[in-house]
Amino acid sequence: MRVFYLFIIASVLLGACNTKVTEPVTKNHLSLNTDSAKIKINKEIYGHFSEHLGTCIYEGIYVGEDSKIPNINGYRTDVVEAMKEMKVPVLRWPGGCFADTYHWKDGIGPKKDRPSIVNVHWGGVTEDNSFGTHEFLNFCELIGTEPYLSINVGSGTVQEAAEWVEYVTSTNKSPMTDLRKKNGREEPWDVKFWGIGNENWGCGGDMAPDYYADIYRNYSCFVRGHNFQKIICGPSGGDTYWTETILEGLKGKMHLTQGISMHYYTLPTGDWGSKGSSTDFGEDMYFKTIRNTMEVEKYIQSHLEIMDKYDPEGRVKLIVDEWGTWYDKLPDSKEGFLQQQNTVRDALVTGINLNIFNNHADRISMANIAQIVNVLQAVILTQGAEMVKTPTYYVFKMYNVHQDATLVPVEFESELYEFEGESVPAVTASASIKDEVLSITLTNANPNKAAEIMCDLGKEFEVVNAQIVSGNEITDYNDFGKEEKVTIKDFEIEAPANGKLKIEIPAHSVILVQLK
Ligand code: AHR
Repeated sequence: MRVFYLFIIASVLLGACNTKVTEPVTKNHLSLNTDSAKIKINKEIYGHFSEHLGTCIYEGIYVGEDSKIPNINGYRTDVVEAMKEMKVPVLRWPGGCFADTYHWKDGIGPKKDRPSIVNVHWGGVTEDNSFGTHEFLNFCELIGTEPYLSINVGSGTVQEAAEWVEYVTSTNKSPMTDLRKKNGREEPWDVKFWGIGNENWGCGGDMAPDYYADIYRNYSCFVRGHNFQKIICGPSGGDTYWTETILEGLKGKMHLTQGISMHYYTLPTGDWGSKGSSTDFGEDMYFKTIRNTMEVEKYIQSHLEIMDKYDPEGRVKLIVDEWGTWYDKLPDSKEGFLQQQNTVRDALVTGINLNIFNNHADRISMANIAQIVNVLQAVILTQGAEMVKTPTYYVFKMYNVHQDATLVPVEFESELYEFEGESVPAVTASASIKDEVLSITLTNANPNKAAEIMCDLGKEFEVVNAQIVSGNEITDYNDFGKEEKVTIKDFEIEAPANGKLKIEIPAHSVILVQLK
């Protein structure tokens, strides 16, 4: 794959070293190689994550059949429709940290008989288990998404995991399939993605990597099924020691995994004690958020280099199964509920990350933004019967043209967005082709200046569609009961001539251009 990010080099030289920029690097230039397009952008790169955390599941997705809020079998109708419209290709559940405290048998059978437990990680609230395996998997069927189940390794057992697999996926006659049928589900569900543990270096058991690798091997032997993709808990951010050690532990046993997960959250300040506000920020915090989110590319590269040593054919994929912004909780919200607003800044973070993931589609097979409703960088927020679609939602919706399309390699040069002696590339890009339609997505993070881009399309094309997600201010967001400030709008561009297209992307904007 030929992706040349000259801007990354410029960023390292000028940004990370805090070197003063003395001359403009280059104007923005994008070259597309449609003839060498051959790698599929897995639709799962556009995946999501739902955890028993705050109001993600209860209130956000599931209100129960007796709720006054309109629902389909207990699932909020507005949320179901919004998810279908945006297209959710894969949904991870039940956590997160919650997963390594979760015993799946608590969440099956008649609801009145299900035990209540304490959600120890997230606010110490009572979890009544009314949303369990059936409720989750039926929800996935309703919205047309692939389920991705996260197995409890931290406090569970191998037998519990093996029985869950049997209960969910088996057509055999067995105690577990009899139990499933007794609970109303005759046919198995089709579950391909199985995560074996979550953050086992932290909330998932505080394990050392070599110890976890051994445990993983043990679990993986018993998590068996047709076409399963078994995912090993990988690193946080740039923790290459974890990646190296687990892969060393899998030497000669690489067939036991199909994917390594990686988590990376974007904090404006980089300080977990005081992360920064989701709405009340100036250019300083905005710039730092953009700079910190772009770090993901560096971390991806460093893990891929290690993976290449142990798996030179690139059979095992990288799965970024938690990513997104993490700000201080909203002032009046509950401790441990991780509620935050979502602004134009989050739209930029989304567009930048999705462009990066697309351009690594040869090795990244899935990514799951955290989390789908009401938690962290949510695409949907709810409050009672009200629902808003966030700027992040609209970028996901606009970018869904890339799902299962073929990646078009890009060569790209970007000018810099400079702030107080530091700089990052102003513009990012990715492109794909599907049914002869070429889709280019671009971000301009500079909040003060439009970016003019010359695109060399390599051949003649005509514009079929152009859209934009932006707002008047970087702090604009969509609020309950108010007119939407940030949504998808049509965007006017000049027609291409002689295979060249000039686009001017407004300040702090994410755009899609489609050509045929
Ligand atoms: O998404 C919130 C939490 O972040 C998840 O539960 C955990 O895996 C990560 O630390």
